[in-house]
Amino acid sequence: MSIKSSPSRYGSVAIAIHWLTALAIFGMLFSGLAASNAANPQTQFTLLRGHAVMGTLIGALTIFRVVWWQAFDKRPKDQPGLSRLQKGAAHAVHYGLYAVILVMVSSGFATVIMTGANLQLFGAAPLPLPDFTLAPPMTVHGILSRVLIAMLIGHIGAALWHQFIRRDRLLARMGLGR
Ligand code: HEM
Repeated sequence: MSIKSSPSRYGSVAIAIHWLTALAIFGMLFSGLAASNAANPQTQFTLLRGHAVMGTLIGALTIFRVVWWQAFDKRPKDQPGLSRLQKGAAHAVHYGLYAVILVMVSSGFATVIMTGANLQLFGAAPLPLPDFTLAPPMTVHGILSRVLIAMLIGHIGAALWHQFIRRDRLLARMGLGR
């Protein structure tokens, strides 16, 4: 498999970034929701430390992804036979996902820094963690997490529709199957 994409398939770098990000985002949704519902301060601390580190890696990977597409690689062509509306919706969700991920990462950082929780998570300041709901960026973080979940449902639903109803082997373009 080539490092770069061809007109019909994604290259190995794009495939690796896609599946790594997908896995990490599910981990982030789980750890974020679990941390904000944790009754035990130590559990909340452990979950949130992992959440912040993983979120930083996702942010870096997403910036690398944007640079990769802009400077080094060209996206495969759209699947043949799709309407303008279907192509437009697919592109809007794909670019929207990058934007939502980057705002999630920035609002997460802003929340942690504004509340001083960075000194607890990565320093020696004592627990318990602050009430994050008092920080305005946390409102953005919470709302966008629901928007992200809705976009992921649309994205995964569309991929399954292509694969199993339209039967155009879309997933093979992203490295799953032939
Ligand atoms: C793609 C990246 C991210 C995703 C998908 C994500 C997802 C989430 C979700 C779903 C929640 C729960 C929201 C709620 O209960 O309404 C949450 C909470 C939170 N996230 Fe993130 N997050 C991301 C990045 C980050 C980063 C980079 C940081 C910090 C550096 C961060 C800090 C926080 C904090 C402080 C909370 C509140 C936790 C609590 O209440 O105990 N997030 N996140």
